[in-house]
Amino acid sequence: MSTRRSPESLRSARWYGASDMRAFAHRQRTQQMGFRRDEFVGRPVIGILNTWSEMSPCHSHLRDRAEAVRRGVIRAGGFPVELPALSLGEVIVKPTTMLYRNMLAMEAEELIRQHPLDGVVLMGGCDKTTPGLVMGAISMGLPCIFLPAGPMLSGRWRGTTIGAGTHTRKYWDEYRAGRITDDDWLELEGISTRSTGTCNTMGTASTMTSIVETLGLCLPGATSIPAVDSSHAKMASAVGERIVDMVWEDLTPNRIVTEASVRNAVEVQAALGGSTNALIHLVAVAARAGVALPLDAFDEAARRTPVLANVFPAGTFLMEDVYFAGGLPALLSRIQDRLDLSCLTVTGRPIGESVGRAKVWDDEVIRPLDRPVTTVPAIAILRGNLCPDGAAMKPSAATPALLNHRGRALVFDSHAELSRRIDDPALDVDETTVLVLRGAGPVGAPGMPEWGALPIPKKLLDRGVRDMVRLSDARMSGTHYGTCVLHIAPESHVGGPLALVRTGDEIVLDVENRRLDMLVDDAELARRREAWTPPAPRYERGYTMLYQRHVSQADKGCDFDFLEAGAPTPEPEIF
Ligand code: FES
Ligand code: MG
Repeated sequence: MSTRRSPESLRSARWYGASDMRAFAHRQRTQQMGFRRDEFVGRPVIGILNTWSEMSPCHSHLRDRAEAVRRGVIRAGGFPVELPALSLGEVIVKPTTMLYRNMLAMEAEELIRQHPLDGVVLMGGCDKTTPGLVMGAISMGLPCIFLPAGPMLSGRWRGTTIGAGTHTRKYWDEYRAGRITDDDWLELEGISTRSTGTCNTMGTASTMTSIVETLGLCLPGATSIPAVDSSHAKMASAVGERIVDMVWEDLTPNRIVTEASVRNAVEVQAALGGSTNALIHLVAVAARAGVALPLDAFDEAARRTPVLANVFPAGTFLMEDVYFAGGLPALLSRIQDRLDLSCLTVTGRPIGESVGRAKVWDDEVIRPLDRPVTTVPAIAILRGNLCPDGAAMKPSAATPALLNHRGRALVFDSHAELSRRIDDPALDVDETTVLVLRGAGPVGAPGMPEWGALPIPKKLLDRGVRDMVRLSDARMSGTHYGTCVLHIAPESHVGGPLALVRTGDEIVLDVENRRLDMLVDDAELARRREAWTPPAPRYERGYTMLYQRHVSQADKGCDFDFLEAGAPTPEPEIF
């Protein structure tokens, strides 16, 4: 057991513990809020970073949950303070939450640094909030626990299970093809997201919270508890209790997020059939901890470990079913031979302990290794003359017949152009065409929006076509599906070869050999490069300009160059 720290050694003692005029003012001002001296002096001060807002539907219960955390902190002898942090409600935030992930990461880090905190609870879960909070907290380095918002309740419509995101896209295609009515569409709008909580499919939210739990930053089993379940509030109070002890034990994230725990998370991403977004976020999270994570690690893991979580979009169940089947520890128990079970978690114990206790209660939902959801890998990393630094796709969510495909490119230079032209009856396109979108990357869009599941042209939808090969430097929502090659790096805006493709070029996708190429010879490519001019910058001020100047490419995690691991930032002077 590690030695316990003394109250005098707490970080907050720098603010509250001295006898000078400044310390007087810090105590005076805290008492101004109605707290007695004894409630905070000499006690671990726990920041509750809360991404609650009324524009964040997946987090609307987090205001209440902060009360449960507070209860736990007080019970353990700490002093809880709630600090609002940037709320990134996926779907509602424009142009894309990804543009603001790094802003949240910066905010989280600086909120922790600027205040007299000893430990933090990170409350998030909707897509980018998870990596944003975790990246910032790792860089700051104080003891922290991530509290996942939990999935929304399962949806059903006319006897069919409805998953958030996945079915929106599915029914939109049906609606455009005239197979469901206006009234059906209206009804779906009202009933298909049943409660607060994050998307109940294996989208980015559930993938990222599962990954962060695997890294060791959540209480074991926390991520699959439904948002509105009474167990969720109980988990929140347990988080509050535990973080106080973590402060006394000085259990910091650099002891939890290590090369080995990152490798565990990569393996779990494969078993989840998780969102492609996780490739970007986990690379960025790992880098904050000083761990280099090459993209190929995801490909290798996906070849080794098949999809076991039978959850939309790769499977047929939802997160509530995963909860009843035993949650993430149960899934981890299925692949324990492939994990390093000695990795420490926020419990102060190795992850192997909770994995060893776990049981799978439903073999349909969490499949055994000898009966996976699919043997098609969850992730493939492609290379070729179109994507020298890599591109990602999700073979398990693609149409098998399209995994080896040769077709003619139809290129769109921007999302606006795509929207304008895609349903034009005169568009020269058939089901063998390869749809190409560029200008949609981290710098170009900017923020690399989830435009990667390019819409199928209406005239093809009418003929029953539901999937085509689609390429872009964009991302794709984790709840979506289709033969979509994403994250092409380098992106077109910075002069990646994607910038040189022309409508009519032959494109070859060969997933088995992990290749993506355009059949254009080097001399012709050199001529095209000669003629290429970089697009003019669109933003000359503000956060977006900062973003465009400093964001890294998809294979590097899209972090800002000045935030990657480096010499630690000094603690603020107190005077
Ligand atoms: Fe919030 Fe999907 S929209 S998790
Ligand atoms: Mg999403």
